[in-house]
Amino acid sequence: MEPVDGIAFIGRNPLDSDNVFIATGDSGQGMTHGTIAGMLLTDLLQGRKNAWEDLYSPSRITLRAFTEYAGENINVAEQFADYVTAGEIQSPNELKPGTGAIMREGLSKLAVYRDEGGVVHRYSAVCPHLGCVVAWNSTEKTWDCPCHGSKYRADGRVYQGPANSDLTSA
Ligand code: FES
Repeated sequence: MEPVDGIAFIGRNPLDSDNVFIATGDSGQGMTHGTIAGMLLTDLLQGRKNAWEDLYSPSRITLRAFTEYAGENINVAEQFADYVTAGEIQSPNELKPGTGAIMREGLSKLAVYRDEGGVVHRYSAVCPHLGCVVAWNSTEKTWDCPCHGSKYRADGRVYQGPANSDLTSA
């Protein structure tokens, strides 16, 4: 899971027994949060105070977080409008080698990539996580999902979740 404020949930599991602790919501910062969790949870288990307890508390709710949560969900809703809009290109012929773009084909949106050798690769542009339409990232040469941050290599292979499967060939 990815908390709206980008800060992990580390501490007592809300609405659970006092001896149940969690560490989750790493948002791509697992190495850092894992270390913090080791220190923070050790203190909590030993009954010691820890200056980070409130910051990482799984029970925290901040106004900022709520505002961003609402905004994020509006953002997700807006992303689904991509299903009915036109593509960025009409034909793969418009792609230079090493570039990708979204193309409409009938009712489908395709993620189309032309590799450096000129070969065209076509994938469904629908993110396998929860169905948003991915976008070409020309800087990193990846397909990025605007909804929850999944990333796919130009050849459609997933390399950053929350999606756990590749874009499907089309
Ligand atoms: S729909 Fe969730 S990451 Fe793409």
